[in-house]
Amino acid sequence: MKKYFQPSLYDLAPYVPGEQPPVTKKIVKLNTNENPYPPSPQIKKVVQTILNKGLLRRYSNPISKSVIQEIAKLHKVPESHVMVTNGSDEGLAILFRATLGNKDIVMMPYPTYSLYPVLTSLQLNDARIQKVELKSDFHFDFEKMKKSFHSSKIKLLTFANPNAPTGILESKSNIIDLIQNFHGITLCDEAYIDFAPKGSSLVDEVKNMDNLVVSRTFSKSYGLAGLRVGYLVSQPQNISQLMKIKDSYNLGMIEQEIAVAALKDQKYFQKVIKQIIASRNSLAKNLRDLDFKVLESNTNFLFVKPPVGFSAEEIFHYLKLEEVYIRYFSDNFCKDFLRITIGTEKENRILLNTIKKAINK
Ligand SMILES: Cc1ncc(COP(=O)(O)O)c(C=O)c1O
Repeated sequence: MKKYFQPSLYDLAPYVPGEQPPVTKKIVKLNTNENPYPPSPQIKKVVQTILNKGLLRRYSNPISKSVIQEIAKLHKVPESHVMVTNGSDEGLAILFRATLGNKDIVMMPYPTYSLYPVLTSLQLNDARIQKVELKSDFHFDFEKMKKSFHSSKIKLLTFANPNAPTGILESKSNIIDLIQNFHGITLCDEAYIDFAPKGSSLVDEVKNMDNLVVSRTFSKSYGLAGLRVGYLVSQPQNISQLMKIKDSYNLGMIEQEIAVAALKDQKYFQKVIKQIIASRNSLAKNLRDLDFKVLESNTNFLFVKPPVGFSAEEIFHYLKLEEVYIRYFSDNFCKDFLRITIGTEKENRILLNTIKKAINK
């Protein structure tokens, strides 16, 4: 067969997103860490205004200026520290593209967000991954990571904090120490940080560290996964280089205006976060009462191990037949666990009842 593309593309295993089943009333969808609540009701008005004024005939602002302004206000950082992206995944892809040359190495804990290895392969330049397995308590192995920094080929260090799929938050002081010991650039992916205690984010540290890039998303805490908006925060000399790689108009006008409206409605945002955290804590307790091992989560999902005698994979399939979708990863580290997104109170009840049936309780 004639091959038109770069040979390494044919061997590349693409990212596998969580299943998106058709939206029906019956399906309980707790498999992709989406927010179970709708976004701020304020967004309706801005969409209507754009349509009423016929603005869509124009191009959108190339850098999403109004979103940058609102993010800068929220985090109390200069506007030059912010780049708005088409979902945080675009920000991650741009950073990988900018950093990893031929045979360069990216270090990451294992397991972590499964897109990172795919982004590495997508460089199509033999960039390599150095995985440092989590410790038995599921925390990062900071000492091992630091000891492995010796190769100058390691150009990028990437991790999610809180981590996925474990949900575990690492302390700010450990992370700062790690980054200070690293000669390359670091991506701290804070997709879930809004569900962690206040003060956990590294955004405040960007001004102190020139090798730190923090990524954030509107997909989880703002309930806007379908909108595709995220952003990077880093020092201006990094942001100005990364900006060169993004698509000229990487966000549409509607996306920009909705993101601004969502950011401005902090009251609604806080209410939703509080509700999800409360539901998370009660679901964790209920699962522990059923003898599940539940890792301490600082996210909008739980990573749980079924009681002795029950297989995670079998429970996953049982739930799916009952139209309750959760996530199962078959790799070595995760195969005994299930990842469950926090739903509405009603969804969590259905989930629990279905799990009880699966384990005959
Ligand atoms: C750790 C982590 N980072 C980033 C993302 C992607 O976010 P976005 O929807 O903004 O591309 C996810 C989505 O599941 C995630 O788990």
